[in-house]
Amino acid sequence: MAHTSDLISVDIEKYLKQHEQKSLLRFITCGSVDDGKSTVIGRLLYESKMLFEDQLAAIENDSKKWGTQGGDIDFALLVDGLAAEREQGITIDVAYRFFSTDRRKFIVADTPGHEQYTRNMITGASTADVAVILVDSRKGILTQTRRHSYLVSLIGIRKVVLAINKLDLVDYSEKVFKQIDEEYREFAKQIGLNDITSIPLSGLKGDNMIVASEKTPWYHGPTLLGFLETCEIDEERLQKEPFRMPVQWVNRPNLDFRGFAGVITGGMIKPGDRIRAQPSGKESKVQRIVTMNGDLPLAVAGQSVTLTLEDEIDISRGDVISTAESPAEVADQFEATIVWMTDEPMLPGRPYLLKIGTQLVTATVTEPKYKVNVNTMEHLAAKQLEVNEIGVVNLALDRPIAFDPYTANRDTGGFILINRLTNNTVGAGMLHFALRRSHNIHMQAVDVDKAARATAKGQKPGVLWFTGLSGAGKSTIANLVEKKLHAMGRHTYLLDGDNIRHGLNKDLGFTEADRVENIRRVSEVARLMVDSGLIVLTAFISPFKSERAMARGLLGEGEFIEIHVDTPLNVAEDRDVKGLYKKARRGEIANFTGISSPYEVPENPEMRVNTAVISADQAADEIIARLRTLGMID
Ligand code: ADX
Repeated sequence: MAHTSDLISVDIEKYLKQHEQKSLLRFITCGSVDDGKSTVIGRLLYESKMLFEDQLAAIENDSKKWGTQGGDIDFALLVDGLAAEREQGITIDVAYRFFSTDRRKFIVADTPGHEQYTRNMITGASTADVAVILVDSRKGILTQTRRHSYLVSLIGIRKVVLAINKLDLVDYSEKVFKQIDEEYREFAKQIGLNDITSIPLSGLKGDNMIVASEKTPWYHGPTLLGFLETCEIDEERLQKEPFRMPVQWVNRPNLDFRGFAGVITGGMIKPGDRIRAQPSGKESKVQRIVTMNGDLPLAVAGQSVTLTLEDEIDISRGDVISTAESPAEVADQFEATIVWMTDEPMLPGRPYLLKIGTQLVTATVTEPKYKVNVNTMEHLAAKQLEVNEIGVVNLALDRPIAFDPYTANRDTGGFILINRLTNNTVGAGMLHFALRRSHNIHMQAVDVDKAARATAKGQKPGVLWFTGLSGAGKSTIANLVEKKLHAMGRHTYLLDGDNIRHGLNKDLGFTEADRVENIRRVSEVARLMVDSGLIVLTAFISPFKSERAMARGLLGEGEFIEIHVDTPLNVAEDRDVKGLYKKARRGEIANFTGISSPYEVPENPEMRVNTAVISADQAADEIIARLRTLGMID
């Protein structure tokens, strides 16, 4: 029943205590502006009487100004809080609202129904227990109903309420209700949604919202609020799953105490239980479960605790503590679904940070196996993913992680991708399974190593990474530097853009994706050459910060020397040695760096040379001098 707040004034302490002990249900609402979604949410909030009086007064005023319900309170105004939304008549972004009844607390994420807002829904709903999907009973199941349901199943929400709304407009027809219910169930089965509760509603009139409606005597199921108050929440279900706790931090206040703190994301644990730390695989037993309010005899999913163990085993932030008898899996290559969330496209081969639980690793993504048309669930071929697109890819990580398939545990199976330079979240994803090769290919340990090979050559290996516009002078200067190093008896190799593009990379063009792949391969080759003890010079435009950072990341401290050949565009264009700028200006070459494709200037290169001011020879001399101060040559 709706929440009565009498206790608040009579005995606030008691009220707060009760409130604290109530379970919390998170749900999302999906539907479009026309389905009456805002009215339904508004009524739930209103009936739960958790609105403050001044808020109510404001709505009453607003209803007169903006409302669509004559003089009555327009519940939609409670929800469509933003002026912009009111003007456009659409809901944008995700809005979270909190309300409570005597039985439960609720957080509702209201996600917009507009086509382009896949990402809002994915972010807004990632922790929801239930999805309330609204349909207008006059219209039935629409494309957007299918799209929302697909996203709901993708996010891993298992319980769906099909709110068949505006039943007052079809004379509370049982036939209409049944038809929609049957059609929906048929479809939902195909996308793996099986736990469906259809409710005949009128948000506007209040039928079956809070109390059973007399207008639908043929309906014997729960009311909307009744369902939300009594359905099983995910946390309760998760307590029956195997124990998982991603370690947030290692608590070591003094030498006598070493605890591992985190939120339990699955199962339960007691002192004496045998655990396994992952990915290391080391095992021990739980000694104590420590919390702010004293030790616990048992802890369950959803609780924040600190575990101490019987043995001193090495566990750090990002590791996962599992039960020894049903541990998580460990792997470094996966198949996964990715939802892309940012305007810059997802490029295969580009390294991103991947955050899963408390683990942070570097990931690269292959070309999508396919992308999904969210309206038809059709699989389409794709080279990359654009904003709001969903695709299935293979992922390769720089080291193994502990995980569960997303369908088993949303916390240990769900991840986000982060741009390494801007720190923005660019995508979200769900792990399906580990690839078989992930377990089978191991790095071969070799006896003759980089140090041995470098000593034999009597030098310190490394990469001189020249970057700059076409025609800046990279190849010319790199060539001069190599001659000088060679004359000094150094063992060198020059990898030059034009040459490599005739051989190893002759399959690549100049789209962003191809340039990423070009530099990825060159970085790997440079790394192998450094491993063989050489001083490598590379001359590639390498226009993107991300890939230069990736190349740097492949090499050891002090082994990567970035040299920005900082020749202004007008100077390079005036020279136009290969006549390419003229062609690009005439539109005969697409994606030409500096003209129709970006060049991201290095922020902190080890060196910058400007050939508009000094000659190529002087630049080469300056570079040799700098190599001396950096200790690469003596
Ligand atoms: S990179 O961007 O992928 O690093 P790379 O250095 O290998 O480029 O190749 C650049 C060379 O290819 C240029 O010096 C130029 O000779 C030639 N080229 C042909 N088309 C383009 C283009 N669209 N943009 C830049 N360079 C091009």
